[in-house]
Amino acid sequence: MPALSQGQTGGHDGNRSVAMGEANELSAAIEHVLLDEAAISGRVRELARSISADYAHIRHSDERLVLVGVLKGAFVFLADLARHLSIPHHVDFIALSSYNASATASEVRLIMDSRINVAGHHVLIVEDIVDTGHTLDYLLRTFQARHPRSLKSCVFLSKPDRREVEVKIDYLGFKIPDVWVVGYGLDFADRYRTLPYIGALRREIYEA
Ligand code: PRP
Repeated sequence: MPALSQGQTGGHDGNRSVAMGEANELSAAIEHVLLDEAAISGRVRELARSISADYAHIRHSDERLVLVGVLKGAFVFLADLARHLSIPHHVDFIALSSYNASATASEVRLIMDSRINVAGHHVLIVEDIVDTGHTLDYLLRTFQARHPRSLKSCVFLSKPDRREVEVKIDYLGFKIPDVWVVGYGLDFADRYRTLPYIGALRREIYEA
């Protein structure tokens, strides 16, 4: 955390100045904004409306809708999406890591499993982005083996140009070009996740 400048007491106003300094620093790394807050919130509401309509038939507690957010990137999208759903639902999380096992294959590993037993329930996987498709492919295969009543995916961003494995996306926020994007949960080196918009990162940041 940056040191307080002279004249700042560290009280409420001091903390706000530090927070604004951090926000300015993060924004300075953005080449241009792809999706602003209004575009994001409008689309998230539309997705929530579609999902609420499609799962409106769920009436019994023995047939639940379980949203499974994929950490870390999906935490912002899931929080907004879930709060706009007008139907009962449960929230769970899973954490994965992916690495290049070889020049041609990438492997996904489970770091933290979800807690709810989804057998007999409706699972909706919530992802921030689908890039090569390996992560979502792994998730769909993993949850299918757990005998859900239904299994679908809701993805905020998709980069079709990067796809290595075809995956089914049932609810999609936006298709975007192959640029490095951050904000709204997405990171570079674990930074920029809390920017309220989706921005293209300056090339010199990720090529440094
Ligand atoms: C990102 C994103 C997806 C995955 C998509 O996660 O959140 O889970 O990559 O990539 P793929 O389609 O090529 O498999 P990341 O590994 O960056 O972790 P994070 O969510 O913790 O930032």
